[in-house]
Amino acid sequence: MKLQKPIHLLVVGSLAVAVSGTAMYLLFSRYQASYVYSIVVLVLLSLVTFFVFRYILEKFIYDKIKVIYKTIHTLKLPKRDKRERVNLNEDVLEKVSWDVSLWAQKHQQEIEDLKKMEAYRREFLGNVSHELKTPLFNLQGFLLTLLEGAIDDPQVNRTYLEKAAKNLERMINLVKDLEIIAHLESGEIKMNYSRFDIISLTREVFEMLELKAKQKNIQLIFNEKHDDGLPIWVMADRERIRQVLHNLIENAINYGVENGRTKVSFYEMNDLILVEVSDNGIGIEEKHIPRLFERFYRVDKSRSRNLGGSGLGLAIVKHIIESHGQTIHVRSAPGVGSTFSFTLQRYSS
Ligand SMILES: Nc1ncnc2c1ncn2[C@@H]1O[C@H](COP(=O)(O)OP(=O)(O)O)[C@@H](O)[C@H]1O
Ligand SMILES: [Mg+2]
Repeated sequence: MKLQKPIHLLVVGSLAVAVSGTAMYLLFSRYQASYVYSIVVLVLLSLVTFFVFRYILEKFIYDKIKVIYKTIHTLKLPKRDKRERVNLNEDVLEKVSWDVSLWAQKHQQEIEDLKKMEAYRREFLGNVSHELKTPLFNLQGFLLTLLEGAIDDPQVNRTYLEKAAKNLERMINLVKDLEIIAHLESGEIKMNYSRFDIISLTREVFEMLELKAKQKNIQLIFNEKHDDGLPIWVMADRERIRQVLHNLIENAINYGVENGRTKVSFYEMNDLILVEVSDNGIGIEEKHIPRLFERFYRVDKSRSRNLGGSGLGLAIVKHIIESHGQTIHVRSAPGVGSTFSFTLQRYSS
C-alpha cells in the first residue's frame, strides 16, 4: 500500500502502536493471556490509537493549512466550529498545493497589472512634478529679480513681467490638461453623443485660434471641396471633438512654419467620416511617431515648453477618439509637414 493519503499513514501508525502495545501486554501480563484476550486488546488498542492520532493529526494539519487558505482566499474561512478538521481521506497536501497554484495563476495577471499601474503612477507623478517645477522656479526667479530692483529699470521690467506671465500660462495649461486627462481616465465620464455638423464645429475652432495663427501668418483653411459650406453630419460628443480639433489645429500652428497653412479636410467612407488636419510645418521624424501619443512625449522639449505646451495634447486627443471607438493616425515627413487623421461616425437619418 502506498502511503499517499494521511489516512493510510494513520492506519499504519495506529496498527504499529497497537501491535507493540499488545506485545507488551503479552510480555508483562501476569496471567497467561488467552488468544481471545490478545485479539481484544489488539482491536481496542488499534481503535483508541486510531481515534486519538486522527484527532491530533487533523488538528495539526488544519492549523497549518489554515494560514495558507487565509492568505490565498481574501475571503474569510468558514467559521472555525464548522471546519475544525480536515478530511484525511484525501491527499491534503496535494490539494493545498493545487489550490495554491490555481490561486497563483489567477492572480498572476492581476499582480502584473498592478505592477504596471504602480510603475505608471510613479512615472506620471514624477513627470507632473517635473513639469510644474520648471515654470514655478522660473516664475520665482523673475519675480525675485524684479523685487531686487529690476522693477525700476524700464529696460527690463516689462520683459521680466511678460516672462513671468508666460510661465504662469504654461502652468495653467498643464493643470487644465491634467484635469481633462484625469477625468477621461477615471472612466466616470460618459461620452455625450449628439448629431452635429463637423464643418461648423471646425469653423468655430478656426475662429478661436485665428489670433494665434495670425501671429505666424498661418492660413487656416478647409479643403476646396468644402468651401461651399454644406454640412457634414456626424454622431459624437461635440465638446470633446472640439477639444480634439483644437489640440490638433493648435499643434499644426505651433509646429508650423511662418507664412504656412493648416488645412482641414473631410472624406466620406461608408458609415465613417475621415477628418484630416494637415500642415506644411517642421514635420516629425519617423522614430518619434510611435511614441507621439504618450503623455509628456515631445520631439523638441524646449520648443514645446516655449510654446506653452503641456505635452498632454495628443494623449488627450487619442483618449477621446478611442473612447468613441474610432482611430487616429499620423503621417509626417521632416521639413514637409504632418497630417493627423481620425475617423468619426457619420450620421445617417
Ligand atoms: N503638427 C505637428 N508637427 C510637428 N510636430 C508635432 C505636431 N503635433 C505634435 N507634434 C509633436 O508632438 C509632441 C506632442 O504633442 P502634444 O501632445 O500636443 O504636446 P505639446 O504640444 O504640448 O508639446 C509635440 O511636442 C511635438 O513635438
Ligand atoms: Mg499640443
